[in-house]
Amino acid sequence: MENFSLHMPTRIFFGTGHEEKIGSLLKRFGVSEVLLHYGGGSIKASGLYDKITASLRAAKIHCTELGGVRPNPVLSTVREGIALCRERGVQFILAVGGGSVIDSAKAIAAGVPYDGDVWDFFYPMPKKRIEKMLRVATVLTIPAAGSEMSDSCVITNEDGNLKRSFSTDLCRPVFSVLNPENTRTLPKYQLACGITDMLAHVFERYFTNSREVELTDRLCEAVMQTVIFNAQRALDAEFDYEAAANLMWASSLAHNGLLGAGRVGDWASHGIEHELSAKYGVAHGEGLAIVLPGWMRYVYKHDVTRFARFASKVWGFEMNINDLEGLAADGINATAEFFKAIGMRSKISELGGTAEDIPYLAAHTALVPPAMTIGNFVPLTETDVSNILNSVL
Ligand code: NZQ
Ligand code: ZN
Repeated sequence: MENFSLHMPTRIFFGTGHEEKIGSLLKRFGVSEVLLHYGGGSIKASGLYDKITASLRAAKIHCTELGGVRPNPVLSTVREGIALCRERGVQFILAVGGGSVIDSAKAIAAGVPYDGDVWDFFYPMPKKRIEKMLRVATVLTIPAAGSEMSDSCVITNEDGNLKRSFSTDLCRPVFSVLNPENTRTLPKYQLACGITDMLAHVFERYFTNSREVELTDRLCEAVMQTVIFNAQRALDAEFDYEAAANLMWASSLAHNGLLGAGRVGDWASHGIEHELSAKYGVAHGEGLAIVLPGWMRYVYKHDVTRFARFASKVWGFEMNINDLEGLAADGINATAEFFKAIGMRSKISELGGTAEDIPYLAAHTALVPPAMTIGNFVPLTETDVSNILNSVL
């Protein structure tokens, strides 16, 4: 097991009704003024907006609003939020929505106390380290990105179409309200994207070169099995509260750092996918459903035993030590079939992409200096990235 330091300070309020008390919750955290940040309108249609604003009014919390965050959130909205917070002296951001809204809130929170341009903080070559941020709290409406507990933020800079991230413990929300009821209005397609993303967050940690990580291996396997089991229930049924609850908690556990403690994660698939989101506007989860099987087929020979274990523990194939290769292939095929079965596309061409796009996508993938590779399980060069993308064209 690797050395690690883990700080997960986000208080979770899980279950029904907490959003109706959001005003008094904020008061408990010493907040009297917020920027209420939200997306394209789902919270208005669902009635969540009315519940939240009523609770803020009742608690006499002054509220400045900025809606309109789009999926794959953009830097221009972040800049708008920074200017608004500065103009009104707002020191706390309440993000109501999914990963896009929460990430936009995190970026605003990083930008307000900083004199320079907030883009300076973004990887792979940040010009500045984040030293101070406003506090952020969230009311989550989609189980997916895990941003409600994570240390990360992902934003697209429209100038150059660059989808990039930063990570710091400072951006973990102070609290997050997780009410599965708030996912009742979620289109099944968005739910399927979320299911894919949370599985991907576990895959990125599970496929590791770190040795003797049995505890987190088993935790990862438990989360993956839980997501797969509840996916069918959540997608088949009208609305199944218990399935929604298990998925919502899984989304947070998949990405709050617990499952990666003591192991080196990979993260190449995420970096490659961000280029698909940036170029085609595809939802992050669906982009991952395209990249991941290609990545798995490209790298599995690096550790066939681990992929065979994945097939056996997660997908239920009988362990056969005489045919680890075959077992590994079964697990990868089962993963690809699962993504298709929940409605994800599996090819770049289905997004409108062509062979001519591959060099652009590979060249734009955020390779990490000095080696200029991406990923840790198998470090990938630009050529490797091209090969993977071509395999899923
Ligand atoms: O904008 P609104 O109207 O709210 O609609 C959203 C959006 O269109 C809709 N939606 C959300 N909750 C709903 C709902 N519609 C009806 N009822 C509800 N209850 O769903 C759409 C997608 O929302 P979005 O926030 O984009 O989804 P998600 O949570 O998957 O976030 C994706 C973003 O998070 C980033 C992704 O790259 C992407 O930009 N990620 C952030 C991470 C992090 N900060 O730790 C890690 C992830 O790996 C990921 O990269
Ligand atoms: Zn993700």
